[in-house]
Amino acid sequence: MCGIVAYIGHREAYPVILKGLKRLEYRGYDSAGIALIQYPPHNPSDQPVITVYKRKGKVAELEEYLAAKDLHSHVGIGHTRWATHGEPSDRNAHPHLSGNGRLAIVHNGIIENYASIKQELLNKDHVFHSDTDTEVLIHFIEDIQQNNQCSLEEAVRIALRRVVGAYVIVILDADHPDTLIAARKGTPLVIGVGKGEHFLASDPSPIIEYTQEVVFVNDYEVAIVKADELVLKNLGNERQTPFIQKLDLELAAIEKGGFDHFMLKEIFEQPDTIFDSLRGRLDEQQGRIIMRGVEEYMQKFIDAQRIIMVACGTSWHAALTAEYMFEELCRIPVEVEYASEFRYRNPVIHPGDIVMAISQSGETADTLVAIEEAKRAGAIIFGICNVVGSSIARVSHAGAYTHAGPEIGVASTKAFTAQLAVLCMIALKVGRQKGTLSNDRFIHLLHELALVPDKVKEILQQHDQIKHIAAKYATARDFLYLGRGYNFPVALEGALKLKEISYIHAEGYPAAEMKHGPIALVDEHLPVLFVATRDRFHEKIISNIQEIKARKGQVIAVIHEGDEVVPQLANEVMVVPQADEIVAPILNVIPLQLLAYYIGVAKGYDVDKPRNLAKSVTVE
Ligand code: F6R
Repeated sequence: MCGIVAYIGHREAYPVILKGLKRLEYRGYDSAGIALIQYPPHNPSDQPVITVYKRKGKVAELEEYLAAKDLHSHVGIGHTRWATHGEPSDRNAHPHLSGNGRLAIVHNGIIENYASIKQELLNKDHVFHSDTDTEVLIHFIEDIQQNNQCSLEEAVRIALRRVVGAYVIVILDADHPDTLIAARKGTPLVIGVGKGEHFLASDPSPIIEYTQEVVFVNDYEVAIVKADELVLKNLGNERQTPFIQKLDLELAAIEKGGFDHFMLKEIFEQPDTIFDSLRGRLDEQQGRIIMRGVEEYMQKFIDAQRIIMVACGTSWHAALTAEYMFEELCRIPVEVEYASEFRYRNPVIHPGDIVMAISQSGETADTLVAIEEAKRAGAIIFGICNVVGSSIARVSHAGAYTHAGPEIGVASTKAFTAQLAVLCMIALKVGRQKGTLSNDRFIHLLHELALVPDKVKEILQQHDQIKHIAAKYATARDFLYLGRGYNFPVALEGALKLKEISYIHAEGYPAAEMKHGPIALVDEHLPVLFVATRDRFHEKIISNIQEIKARKGQVIAVIHEGDEVVPQLANEVMVVPQADEIVAPILNVIPLQLLAYYIGVAKGYDVDKPRNLAKSVTVE
């Protein structure tokens, strides 16, 4: 959701910013723009000016539009916008200028009280050229600067003390072309530190080919960035020490590496990413799981009266799977909450409750505000994030990273299976320590988990068969996904993947619940996907399949190898290796990811950038 790139230094700014915007495309956007500080031609001693170019549509369209322009500059800002206030259009695209055109801003987030600030400014005859909250903010900053005769830095601090909402901003100042001013609250900002140059971005992907040394700006910090100097201050004008971290990110991790799409690459990476989640933690030889974050809070887990899981989307499906794991293995009651609902319904939280926040990006605004609320109420926050150093990871008391590597495809795949692997390890560790899980079962499940990466490899080998099934069903209008027990969240996740990538309406349901309503939808045109691997519900799910067949529905089933019954009933089967039902969801979701991917591709959609979706949802 919205991407920001800025550059100041000895290089040409435009190519750096353009490439950076392309790297941020995965976040989701509907328009793009850049602003550069330039010296008017023919008279270089003239005052520098800000030139702004922006366009509705893709970064490539902006690039084409700029092909013949003089873009010479060493300082600039760029933006990909995902519309919140105001429709996607050229005029609403960022950057936005101040009234006198001497300041330009890019912004990610929402200024919630922009309407009242705008009214104040309208009363002072400010004229706005867009419908955005961002333009209001830059006019507000300009107004403060003029009224108080203060520096831009000071005006930014004053403005941000008034602003309600979340933001990352970067501002160009034509009167101080050697300085960029940036600030953050609630949404991420990374500054890459080079030799005589700085790179600013919403995440490290636009930066890592130039430098691995970065500073993650904290909430309520203002950065004053020159080519060779970085100063951080808080909103009270006190200097903060920038903490320079060395990233360990290879460029290959954020490139497609020969695959047609990031989504496919990430699906195929899963044997490795799941292995990475287990590595150094699952110790089969010694029969133990090593997770420092869990160990530190083990007594709290053992004493917990309940665990509340908060998450959104795919991460919510991981949470739902974890509910089954934790209740079964640890005998701790678990509540699974949509983060956006949890926060605003005055939830009952007791001190000592453990709130587990699950998030790939670690920046999802709904999840972030939910845990801030829970923290205030005295809960222990345990974060499970993929992005190292992300906001959720930082506000959590403890946690575990999923180590799936950068996920660029908008539809989450490898992050989900890594979340399941990590949640499973935590449940196993707590269950064993608490004594609710026998040693024999613990050892068996360790072994089952260790086998997962190789089993995923086996499933991936069937990609051609799954592609074939996808071609057959790509014209379907609706899909039903059904599963029971541990396979119910898998069904939900399969349906979500299909919706996101192929725009086919799909619903996930507990298979037995089907009789209470959705069965009315079944006719010969409806594909019904059953996650029907062998577990304690197998007999029952076979009955559910028969109920669908009796109504002429088309059955596609995910089954265990060796199953002789379901293939006789189903129109299509996708076979996965045998596994204990606790680890089975990690395997069973893989064919569903591939099916959604191939259907989306068959329909000719851009599966890496599905319409209207953003990778990291940083607004509530
Ligand atoms: C689905 C998807 C979204 C995210 C959701 C939460 O493919 O990607 O549903 O799962 O927006 O995002 P995170 O996990 O970053 O909090």
